[in-house]
Amino acid sequence: MDLITRYQEVRRRTEKICSYLQTEDYVVQPVVDVSPPKWHIGHVTWFFETFILKPYFMGYEEYNPDYNYVFNSYYETVGNRVIRTDRGNLSRPTVIEIYSYRKYVDEAMANFLRGEISNDVKELMVLGFNHEEQHQELLMTDIKYILGHNPLFPAYNPEYSAPHFEESAADSFIKMDEGIYEIGFNGEGFSFDNELNRHKVYLNAYEISPKLVTNAEYLEFINSGGYHDFRHWHAEGWDWINTNKVEAPLYWHNIDGEWHNYTYHGLEQLHLKAPVTHVSYFEAYAFASWKGLRLPTEFEWEAAATQFYWGQRWEWTESSYLPYPGFAKAPGAIGEYNGKFMVNQKVLRGASEVTPPGHSRITYRNFFQTNLRWQFTGIRLAK
Ligand SMILES: [Fe+2]
Repeated sequence: MDLITRYQEVRRRTEKICSYLQTEDYVVQPVVDVSPPKWHIGHVTWFFETFILKPYFMGYEEYNPDYNYVFNSYYETVGNRVIRTDRGNLSRPTVIEIYSYRKYVDEAMANFLRGEISNDVKELMVLGFNHEEQHQELLMTDIKYILGHNPLFPAYNPEYSAPHFEESAADSFIKMDEGIYEIGFNGEGFSFDNELNRHKVYLNAYEISPKLVTNAEYLEFINSGGYHDFRHWHAEGWDWINTNKVEAPLYWHNIDGEWHNYTYHGLEQLHLKAPVTHVSYFEAYAFASWKGLRLPTEFEWEAAATQFYWGQRWEWTESSYLPYPGFAKAPGAIGEYNGKFMVNQKVLRGASEVTPPGHSRITYRNFFQTNLRWQFTGIRLAK
């Protein structure tokens, strides 16, 4: 597929996600991790403007120099920016103005891409596509948080349906031999820098579940007092559940003794067979402990991943988010993309029902802090 077509496809997909929103939905930031949708659609546009148009399109005129301050996410190299907690306090630029910004940049990109494009710029373009896809997923999860924390529980899109996923029929754990496994990205196509370099890892023999933990199984954990038994929790996790009065996954509501959860359709009765989601690492760990099992490391996950279906939930692993041997940051602002976040986070593997199709792969490394659960996070057990 040529660059223009891919560019337009990615950009259109973002706008499709937002097409179900009302103007007011674009503006709010209920918690720091959830950005207002209008910030996302400005920020991904800023990414193409800052990293492609400004440095490489001769004669390009910046749409509005103030936007760098508003839409820069975390790039110190690119200058000062609105602090993250303040994204929801900005009524200007308006949603209409941000869509005009998108249009302006899209037209400039179309003109730019008609010319000769160097391989370096092509690589940056592909990074821009993947970056916008990451924000498409964040849009889906941020919109869910915004609407799902409204006391009226409005539906995002009554026609929403998760993509179909194959599921394993077998319950028995997959047995993996001890030995040396190759981990990390290798070969043609795009990967993020954090998937490099491919390297060898020694694994002891282990077993991993072909299935994700379901809501029904998680409910057993709740009903048997799992949230009140300190033995299953890290000290930090125990503090976190007690301080925040956590007794169930995010979006779960016990109404007159019946569990419901908020979905893109609004509040619904809990689907018992669905894989549990919106759990923190602390909860995933505690559940595994209660089962007498554990979470897989990211290496165990990757070594076995061709043998099970994945993609419904981001799966918490027992691995800290660290650089692989030989990891190197790219020079300049792009070097800030992943490397500077390699501290105090856990790796998640797989993908989720709201990950854009084709975005993830077996070597993909997602990462979040241990208390966060607004992504579609889930649990796969190992022993
Ligand atoms: Fe970003």
